Amino acid sequence: MSYSEKVIDHYENPRNVGTFDQQDPHVGTGLVGAPACGDVMRLQIKVNEQGVIEDAKFKTYGCGSAIASSSLLTEWVKGKTLEEAASIKNTEIAEELALPPVKIHCSVLAESAIKAAIKDYQEKANVGVE
Ligand code: FES
Ligand code: FES
Repeated sequence: MSYSEKVIDHYENPRNVGTFDQQDPHVGTGLVGAPACGDVMRLQIKVNEQGVIEDAKFKTYGCGSAIASSSLLTEWVKGKTLEEAASIKNTEIAEELALPPVKIHCSVLAESAIKAAIKDYQEKANVGVE
């Protein structure tokens, strides 16, 4: 199977690889696995007081398409509100990266990861708020 140029670019030069402190109240962490292949993606967001995603990082143990999907997503969510980030569809990622049908679930993993990260952040933000 051949990868698109965009996938190869993100795979060879992944953007925003790394981690934030999971305990930081401004950080939301999404950790998801793909049942189809067992690949694992961890995506983290750093959210400011205005509810805007200031920074994002990822670590993906998986295929090239999963790495490219998460790399692309960290670029896309920066500067977005949580609501905007939550509305990103896996189909937009798959289209941007020209993923073939067997690799669509890799982009689904990225959508699940950002949704999980947002949920984690929101749950943390509610803790301690009366
Ligand atoms: Fe092997 Fe994704 S199926 S890395
Ligand atoms: Fe399973 Fe890409 S995430 S093959």
